[in-house]
This record gives sequence, structure tokens and C-alpha cells, in this order.
Amino acid sequence: MCGIVAYIGNQEAYPILIKGLQRLEYRGYDSAGVALLNGKINLYKCKGKVDELEKFIQKNNKNTEGKLGMGHTRWATHGLPNDVNAHPHFSESNSLVIIHNGIIENYNTLRRGLEKRGYKFKSETDTEVLINLIEDIEKNEKVELSEAVRIALNEVIGAYAIVIISKKDPDLLIGAKKGSPLVIGVGKDEYFLASDATPIVEYTKDVVYLEDEEIAIVHKGKDLKIINIKNQEKTPYIHQLEMELEQLEKGGYDHFMLKEIYEQPRSIKDSMRGRISLDRSIVALGGIKNYEQKFVNAKRITIVACGTSWHAGLVGEYLFEELARIPVEVEYASEFRYRKPVIYKDDIVIAISQSGETADTLAAIELAKEKGATIVGICNVVGSSIARATDAGSYTHAGPEIGVASTKAFTAQVTVLMLMALSIGYKRGEISELKYNQLIYELGKIPEKVKKVLELNDKIKYISDIFKDARNFLYLGRGYNFPVALEGALKLKEISYIHAEGYPAAEMKHGPIALIDEEMPVVVIATKGASYEKIVSNIQEVKARKGVIIALVTEGDQNVKEMADYVIEIPEADEVMMPLLSVIPLQLLSYHIAVMRGCNVDQPRNLAKSVTVE
Ligand code: G6P
Repeated sequence: MCGIVAYIGNQEAYPILIKGLQRLEYRGYDSAGVALLNGKINLYKCKGKVDELEKFIQKNNKNTEGKLGMGHTRWATHGLPNDVNAHPHFSESNSLVIIHNGIIENYNTLRRGLEKRGYKFKSETDTEVLINLIEDIEKNEKVELSEAVRIALNEVIGAYAIVIISKKDPDLLIGAKKGSPLVIGVGKDEYFLASDATPIVEYTKDVVYLEDEEIAIVHKGKDLKIINIKNQEKTPYIHQLEMELEQLEKGGYDHFMLKEIYEQPRSIKDSMRGRISLDRSIVALGGIKNYEQKFVNAKRITIVACGTSWHAGLVGEYLFEELARIPVEVEYASEFRYRKPVIYKDDIVIAISQSGETADTLAAIELAKEKGATIVGICNVVGSSIARATDAGSYTHAGPEIGVASTKAFTAQVTVLMLMALSIGYKRGEISELKYNQLIYELGKIPEKVKKVLELNDKIKYISDIFKDARNFLYLGRGYNFPVALEGALKLKEISYIHAEGYPAAEMKHGPIALIDEEMPVVVIATKGASYEKIVSNIQEVKARKGVIIALVTEGDQNVKEMADYVIEIPEADEVMMPLLSVIPLQLLSYHIAVMRGCNVDQPRNLAKSVTVE
């Protein structure tokens, strides 16, 4: 993980770096650091968040001048998150400095080789090994820095996005990537390098996404030069960013997470925009058009994802099986990539990822590609590694998601999966014209219904206050609401640190029921649908053991109201769409509980938004 940012141009680099790091903090926040070149290299770093680094620099009146610099916010992989292990790292002679995102797997072997040649290391990081390797090559081979970087990267096994500054060349920045992302912003006489476009967007919309094993040689006042590690020159392709600055700010909300929960009526609409036409009832997914026939003929679909995206994948399984009658397997990308999955050439593999950078999902794609399957991506971040690694795909268009706990990305993923399942199901002749039109019409009404669910915020806050000190929670759901139960429990764990489990309601009898007593809040998603009667029985089973029921029901449901201790009523909808509504009260419940417990909602401990290490 980790966030990296660098600048070269005519502006003072420090404010750009600090602001950029704050935007990248979602990638990790164990420690932070900056290095600025101004005759000499000034390097400041410390444990903790970017704010702490800023305070440290201010308090000690440090010199922050320089029109070339780099910054890093870290999620520790090698070595504890302390001042020494924080980035940037100097080479032994202090003439080179590096920031790195990723893991150098053979760092131990490289380190031993360098130690034999007399190098001493200050930190435990793989990064310090890499910069000394580069320095060693530069000295011994008597080559330019870019060539030393190229030779070194040929010796490296693992993932990296790096930026290097040399004291000897005040007009040069070198960046390179493999596995971890690196975006280059191209301004007028200035360049920006960053893990994603968020630190860049306010200065320029022209960006180049570096490809794996490419090295960017960034000279102030010169054209951008890109070579790969085989020394072939590449032509930089300039993309236009569609992101707007306001999307990266809290806009009056206390937390990004709350803002993103409230954005869902719009983000769901954006995921559908141009893809359904309410009057003509046509589902058109431009990004998969060329592969549509393969999809229609597919004998099965495998969905690979991690975290919340995996939960969206589970909803996708129900959708594709019901609407398109194609068998679906949903796999944790991390498991899929290391077992020996059976994949055929006519398989469709759908990779779901908000960030488009998750290392395990990326590796799962590569494996499926090797076996000849068609890979379809559902990503939020435009131009991300996963989006580029897939054969076809549909962006979710939810806008930047900054809160570490995913909210609007989930509902956007489910929306896109719904559109895909509907369109393929219709083309396969598995759903009638009438049903197809009816579901599209209903889908168009979802954003308004989400708005109504959000009006329940005060009630959910009231319930949160009652349960904020609970030590455990159980979330139960059936059918389409089972993945929502998993997602509700995950949200609570992630941001409030309360232990929570999501379970298929009937499966509760095979274990979790033993945990139920009067101390145990049980959130039951009991909206109207095929398994309504069954879940009512499950509620009774919990009540019989004195569990406390918080029930999510369809508006007007009297039956459950009589049994449950607390009831949240949400608008009626076809059950295939219910996850888009039922997940929202659970997002709000975890949000309020976490705030009431004094937790850092947007940056929960030990987590990062984008997991670019396995
Ligand atoms: C991390 C994030 C989660 C996210 C998961 C998968 O764990 O904290 O919110 O669901 O990664 O990320 P992706 O970007 O692939 O959806």
C-alpha cells in the first residue's frame, strides 16, 4: 500500500506534497515523510499521520524550501511503523533518496550481497536495500542514474512504485512501477508523480498512467521520457482526468464515510447513467459490448474480489443465477490465485474492485488470463491497474471513495452487476420482456428510495446510542440479504472494532445460536421476499433465547414489529434490488456507533483502502 507523491517544477514543492499526502492517506497512515531538494536534500519523517509530520516540521522550524520534492505515507510491511522505517530513505552516501510503495520479495538476498560489499543499513526496510542497490550500480558501472535504476529493477522480484531524487541532479525525478500504481501529471513546465490522481487533479488534468516495468525519466523543462526495464523507449499516452476537486473534499460532512453514504442516490444513478433508458428499457453496457456474445454463451462465471467487493460479488452470484441462469462461483481472490482453480477458455471471470489496485485480485486476473478465460472488470477508479488488465468491463462511476470503509462503491458494484445480469439474462431469453421492462423501471426508482432510507438517519442514530457499548453483534439475512448481513458485520468490525459476524439466518442454528443471550444484539434483515416466512421463524428462535432483535423490514410490516425490539422500516422493492436499500441502514448504524465510540471512522486502525500487497 502506501501513498507516494512527488513534484518537480517552478512552485514550492512542500505544500503540494503535504496536500497530496493528505489525499493519499487512505492508502496507509502509520508514518509519513518528505524530502526536498534545495542545494542539499532536507528529509523529515516521523511515525504517525501526515498532520503529525506537518506539526513536527512547523514546531522545529524546519526548512521546507525546494521546487523538487517527494512525500510518502506508509502502511508498514517491512519493519515497525517508526521514525527510522518511515520513508523517504537515503542511500548510504546520502546522495540519493527514495520513496517506495510495494514489497521487494528478494530484499534479503540483495541486502546480504550489499552488506558483503560494505553497505550498512539504518532501517529494516526493503526500500533502503533498493536505493543502495541503485547507488552501488551507479558507482560501479559508472552509468547514469536512470540506467542504474533500470539495471537494479531487473534484479528485483516483487512489486514497486518508486520515485528517486539525486542530489547531483536538481532537475531530475525518476519514477518506476510494477504492480503498484504510479500516475504522472503533466503540467506546464512541471510534473507530478503520485499513487493516484487525487494529488494531481487541482493542477492538471493531463495524466500518464505508467505501465508495469516502465521507468519515467522526468526532467524539468524537458519532455517526459519513458523507457521499460528492457530499455525500449515508450510513447507517453496522455489521458484526461474526469475527476473534479470537490469530489475529494468533505463538503460539510463530518467524515468522508458519511458523505459517501449520503452520495448513494447520486452514485447509484451515475452507475446507471447512459446504460438504461427508462422509456425505452434498454440496458446497454458499452464496455462489454464486444464480449457480449461470449457472456451470453458462457457456461459459467467466476467472480473474484476481496473485502466489500467480494460481498458485492455474492449479490452478483444470486443475480446472475436468477436472471441469466448461468452458474456462478464467487472466490476470494487471495484463495483463487494460490489454489489450482479449474478455468476453461469459454469461462467469464468477473473481477470486482473499487480501487482497481488490489494485489490479490490483480494476481487472480493474471492467472485466469493465462488459462484463456475472458476477464471482465467492474472497477471504480478509471485507468487503474485492474481496469487495464481486463479484456472488457464497466466502470461503476461512483466517484472517488475516500473513507476506508467502502459504502457507495458497494451499491455501485451491485448496480452494475444488476445491469449485466439483466442484459445477459434477457439476451439469453431467460427473462421475459415484461419482467425485463419491469425490473429496469424498478431500478430507475431505486435512487429515490435510497433517499427515503437516508431519512431514517435519526432513528438509526438513536438505536446506535443504545448499542454502542455492545461487545458482539450478529447480523442475519437470507437470499439477497445474506451478503448484506456479511457486509453489515464487516462495516461494524472495520470502523468500531466491535466483533460482529454475518451469517445466513438459517445457518445460525449450527453454531452462532450458542452465543445468543440478552447481551447479544442481533440485526435481522427481514424484508419481504421469498424467504420472509423463514426469517420470521429465525427471529423467533433468537427471541426464544432472549436475544435483542434490531429488524430491518419492509415499510408497513406489522408482523415483525411485534416480535422485534427495534424496527427500521425501508421502502418496498423487488427482492433482487433489496441489497441496494437494506445495506444503507447498516452502513449508518456502524458509522454512528463508531463515532460514538470515538473511533477514527475514515481511517480505522490497521486498515488501508487500497491493499496493494498480498
Ligand atoms: C480493503 C478496503 C476494503 C475493500 C477491499 C477490497 O480491505 O479497506 O474497503 O473492500 O480492500 O478493495 P477493492 O479496491 O479491490 O475493492
